[in-house]
Parts: sequence; structure tokens; C-alpha cells
Amino acid sequence: MSKIVVVGSCGTDLFFYTSKLPTPGQTIHGKQFSVDFGGKGANQCVAAQKLGADTVFIGCVGTDIFGNDIIDNFKNIGVDTTYIIKKANVDTGVAQINVTDDGENYIIIVAGANGTLLPADIDKAETLFHSEIGVVIFQFETPLETTEYLLNKLSKINNRCCKIVNGAPAYSNLHNKIFQLADIFCVNESEAEIYTNEIIKINSIETANQALFLLLKQGCNTVIITLGSLGAVFASKNNSEPQWVHSPKVTNPIDTTGAGDAFIGALAYFIVHKPNLDLYEKIKRACTIASITVQQKGTQKSFPNRNTLPKYLFD
Ligand code: RIB
Repeated sequence: MSKIVVVGSCGTDLFFYTSKLPTPGQTIHGKQFSVDFGGKGANQCVAAQKLGADTVFIGCVGTDIFGNDIIDNFKNIGVDTTYIIKKANVDTGVAQINVTDDGENYIIIVAGANGTLLPADIDKAETLFHSEIGVVIFQFETPLETTEYLLNKLSKINNRCCKIVNGAPAYSNLHNKIFQLADIFCVNESEAEIYTNEIIKINSIETANQALFLLLKQGCNTVIITLGSLGAVFASKNNSEPQWVHSPKVTNPIDTTGAGDAFIGALAYFIVHKPNLDLYEKIKRACTIASITVQQKGTQKSFPNRNTLPKYLFD
């Protein structure tokens, strides 16, 4: 089975469920606190593994208890942890996540060890990159320099694998080279606005399609913009006609945290395991899986296991 390799961030998510957000200088009572495993990279990896993929995670943790817990969690789920590096003198990454009653999330991350993932760390997985890999996934919670390094390397030594770059969190001056090296560049609507220099306010399918066009112009090969309850739009360099994929309607989302990561992990799963489906159908199935995650609290906790999902998603 071709592997899915995720290169990126992992951490501890501290959730504060609250009716409203405080104003400057204000202290308010929240409703509930909980802890989950998170980090965009880890979430994407776990989402794919829970669907039945064979995944490998490459990243860094600190030598604190949080790092050990994260590695144990990956192992329990079945993720290959061979290339996770424990680094002394840095803390494991952490995120403070406020979730309001409408399920919307407000996240502050402190990268910690995630910020120390260097090209030299990547080189330790050299044999892996020459092996049977279906998809490699990147996000931007680890250094861009490392992402660009591996994208370049893969385009030389393993050009058959699909390279998905999730441009989150967004950078306002992203090097065009990354757009060009990614096979699929995937962002949500607010990130797409930043990558298109805030020329467009994305508030409709039409404006999302305009952003797709601008991103293709900047050198992207295929762009996917996820739009929450509206699903996603996508377009490719070779077939720039944008397509809109609907998502199943969720009446009362409880917690949208990690839904975008579940989407990317699921998309990677379908790329590897359902290569005959067209991109529209792969995105549709990934949207369905993401829509399930918003109906429960937490990040990785809310990602479905394959055996709980309708069979048609895997036909
Ligand atoms: O995408 C959601 C993730 O963003 C959270 O798990 C948090 O850790 C931040 O990285």
C-alpha cells in the first residue's frame, strides 16, 4: 500500500468553550475546558490513518511529557513515528483554541519544537522518500525553508507522489516557488484572501472562483479553496474551469476546529486508495468526512474511524 507522509506540526490543543470572546482587559467565564491532540500536520495524518491509510509522520516534539504523549497517541492510532525527533531545550507545540456557541474557532499557536524542523531533520528520512509514497502533505506551522527544501527534493527524486501543500496559517508574502512545486495547494477562504493580497473578499462562490484564478496565475497547479458549510471550489492549470463541490448540510455545528485538516487527510486517503475517482468526487467525499467532524467537540477526537462511516464513501 502506498504511504501517506505528513511533514509538519503536532501539538497539544487546549480548548476553551465559551459563549463569547472577552474584550481587552475583560475576564469572562467559559463553559468548558478540554484537551486534545492537535497541530495541523498531526491532525491531517491522524484523519488519513483513521480512514485506513498507511501513514508516516515527520516532525519535532520537545522532551517534555506532552511530546511523549503525542508520540504515544500516534502509535495507538497506528501512525509510523520513526521520524519524529525529540529536541531538548524547546517546548512541544501548543494551541489555545476558543470555540464559541456557533462552533467557530479562534486559535493561537505557539510553534515550539515545530519551529525547529530543519532540512537536516528531513534528510534522516531519505530512504523513505525513495520508497512507495502516494502523497506527501505539508502545512505552514513548520519552517517554510524546510517545506521548500523537501518539495524541491521530491520533484527530483520521487516525482510520482502527489504533493499537497496546505497554506495554513497563511503568509502574506509567500515565495512563488512553493505554489509551483505543490501539486495541490489547499487553503480556506480567509487564507485565500491573504494569498491573493486581500484584493478579493471571499463571500460567495463567484468571489472564491476569482481567488482560484488569481492563485493559478501565481503558479499553482491545482488550487482547492474550502468554504466551510458551502463545501469547496477547485480549479487546475490544465483545466482552469472552476468547479464547486457541495458539502452535506450541518444544521448546528458544534466545533469546526480541525475540519480543514480532516478534509486534507481524507483527500490524501482518496488520492491513494481511490485513484480512479476524479478530483471532484475525491473532494466531495473529503467534504463529507469534514462535515462529520464539526458535529463533535475537539480535533482528532472528532475524526471518524472508517468503520463508523457509510460504506459508499469507500466504493
Ligand atoms: O487546524 C486546527 C489546528 O490548528 C489545531 O489542532 C491547532 O493545533 C492548530 O494547529
